[in-house]
Amino acid sequence: MLNKTSIPTLFTAQNLLFFDSLASTNTHAQKLLEENHPPEGTAILTIDQTAGRGQTGSVWVSEPGMNVLCSFIFYPTFLEPTRQFLLNQVISLAVIDALKKIIGQQFLIKWPNDIYFGEKKVAGILIENSIRGNSFVNSVVGIGLNVNQKIFPPEISNPISLAQISNKNLINMEVFATLAIAIEQRYLQLRNEFSSANIQKEYLNNLLGYDELREYKIGLNKIKAILKNVDETGRLLLSGEDGIKYTAWFKEIEFVF
Ligand code: BTN
Repeated sequence: MLNKTSIPTLFTAQNLLFFDSLASTNTHAQKLLEENHPPEGTAILTIDQTAGRGQTGSVWVSEPGMNVLCSFIFYPTFLEPTRQFLLNQVISLAVIDALKKIIGQQFLIKWPNDIYFGEKKVAGILIENSIRGNSFVNSVVGIGLNVNQKIFPPEISNPISLAQISNKNLINMEVFATLAIAIEQRYLQLRNEFSSANIQKEYLNNLLGYDELREYKIGLNKIKAILKNVDETGRLLLSGEDGIKYTAWFKEIEFVF
């Protein structure tokens, strides 16, 4: 197991716990948090996940050894729980920053925090926050990033990997290091500058479909609407072509590709 790393960060991934196989890096992070108080920025990285978890109870499937599967532990106690969506925003921006650096191409955030290249998903983020009363206690930030996988099971919709985008195989550990650096920079932006207006602006500017008329599915209905905003609770605000305003929580709306 690696411990102190040579990744040039102040604290993120300085405590790096590396495994051959885990059920889920997020679940392992939760277990560490139950047992004691791991240092801020502790990272858990695994080659294989046997029970990887996605958003809203879905599973995250990844070919062993091909991709980056990791979780970070943070203590965003400076953040009011009502503003926790800001953490999703900075982490999404950090993944975009890292991928731009690695591949030199434009990636987008598919609301709320999937990372897309064109209309294909390259990374998923699962953030699990622990809130007590009115205070933020800790956050487990899990990231699954498709790096070298080239064949995906048919049940995964629209997957793509960095190797498919760049036509090169990449070194997972280097990709992870770039990701850890980008995450720390964005986390510090949130912690130190705390300019939520800037974060919101950057998030919207990197959002797939922002200010564009496109098709969405709400229940059984297909609508054409313009993605206008995401409010501070993370709700999507759309304006239909007929002028009707729509608001949607995660899973209440689907993008039509
Ligand atoms: C999603 O798009 O549904 C989110 C997927 C998040 C997957 C990552 S892989 C590393 C970490 N551990 C997990 O069990 N899930 C996250």
